[in-house]
Amino acid sequence: MKIALTVNGECRETEAWGGESLLYVLRERLGLLGSKNACEQGECGSCSVLLDGVLVCACLVLGAQADGHVVTTVEGLADGDRLHRVQEAYVQAGAVQCGFCTPGLVVATVDLLESNPSPSDDEIREALSGNLCRCTGYAKIFDAVHRAAMS
Ligand code: FES
Ligand code: FES
Repeated sequence: MKIALTVNGECRETEAWGGESLLYVLRERLGLLGSKNACEQGECGSCSVLLDGVLVCACLVLGAQADGHVVTTVEGLADGDRLHRVQEAYVQAGAVQCGFCTPGLVVATVDLLESNPSPSDDEIREALSGNLCRCTGYAKIFDAVHRAAMS
């Protein structure tokens, strides 16, 4: 089947098999490799994207379900060479090691700050609870979220 979706402000059309995930469509059909594929079962958050402004795990959404909808991936956050303030905060806080979790965490942080510009630690913990990081121990991620909130 053919699907058409708006990705990072651009109208994209692609072939897609009915059973393939939005994550597969983004990575394999559209060449957007920012959203990571770790568990493919909604456990890790590394594939987090915004679908019509709602945070979702792209591995749990069918590509066909995104037909006619608007998707924002981590690639759509920066303004040209200028990083999004959340991306900048992750860099400044040193909240990145292997980086595999980072795109999902950045998208989830953007989503959090949209609805709650000044979250408490508990609110950050709750909002990012679906995003697993095996490297950082989370302290620097908290720091990054607070930095982004203050920037
Ligand atoms: S790859 Fe989607 S939640 Fe892990
Ligand atoms: S930086 Fe490696 S999983 Fe988070």
